[in-house]
Amino acid sequence: MDFEFETRAVHGGDDPQKRKTKKPSVILDSIDDEEITIENESKLRLEKCIASLEKAKYCLCYPSGTAAITSISMLIGDGDHAVFFDSVYHGTRTNSDLRAACGAIDITFADLRDASVLDFNGGSSTKTPKNFLNPQNWEKASQAIGSIPSPLDCYLCLRGMKTLHLRMERHKENGFQVARFLESHPNVEKVLHPGLESHPQHDLAKKQCTGFSGMVSFCIKGGIEAAREFAKRIKVFTLAVSLGTIESLVDIPPIMTASPLSKETRAELEIPENLIRLSIGIEDARDLIADLDQALRGE
Ligand SMILES: Cc1ncc(COP(=O)(O)O)c(C=O)c1O
Repeated sequence: MDFEFETRAVHGGDDPQKRKTKKPSVILDSIDDEEITIENESKLRLEKCIASLEKAKYCLCYPSGTAAITSISMLIGDGDHAVFFDSVYHGTRTNSDLRAACGAIDITFADLRDASVLDFNGGSSTKTPKNFLNPQNWEKASQAIGSIPSPLDCYLCLRGMKTLHLRMERHKENGFQVARFLESHPNVEKVLHPGLESHPQHDLAKKQCTGFSGMVSFCIKGGIEAAREFAKRIKVFTLAVSLGTIESLVDIPPIMTASPLSKETRAELEIPENLIRLSIGIEDARDLIADLDQALRGE
């Protein structure tokens, strides 16, 4: 019997039809046998849960996004040519730029919405090295550099997973209300949210997604100075670079998350100087909208 996402999330990847005889142990549960020496049971359980939610066969968890990037990049061999989507996370750029600077790899950043950019060397097709494709190597690499999340982190993540769908629902609703509000605001130049009809990829998003996220970006009238003033005035939102959490957060990309990129690269990647990125939390949308309004008006 196939179960829906919500049921799979609550059951943490276990078969909901099976009688549970044993409550999962909590944290300090390192496994130490001949096969696996540095895994832990909470990690394996979390991986099983995420694989189930994604309808995937396997999943590997890492202690952080950067740990995942470092671990996976170990499988790009010296002399390989790596092609990255040009809007990858800036830490991925830093990591690969460093390796390229050491002469180890060639890198290209490309807009991969056009697949023909992969035809290097006069049209010959691109081949992915076998080492990179072997899933066992991904696991070996994470173990070799100790890129293993702790049992406590995995336990907490697994516990949070059980309410993911409830939080996502509010995140999505609030995000949509905020996007609509901003679109009608006189001090806002442009709003970017795939749920809005004005978004250039609205139709594509409707085809690919079952709902829209609570990430909303907008361009404030008055340039970078207006963005700085907005950040000083906002109260309910926290000024922070993270995203997808339960508190609403605000990021000014040109001076925060995208600041490691040069002004030219930011322009190429269409990150304007007056861009503000919001990660909408699960507070009452009326409070978020009132806060945004006062920060935008500056009264
Ligand atoms: C796409 C992406 N990859 C990787 C990272 C890095 O994750 P971490 O901060 O957990 O190292 C981030 C962080 O925001 C990200 O957005």
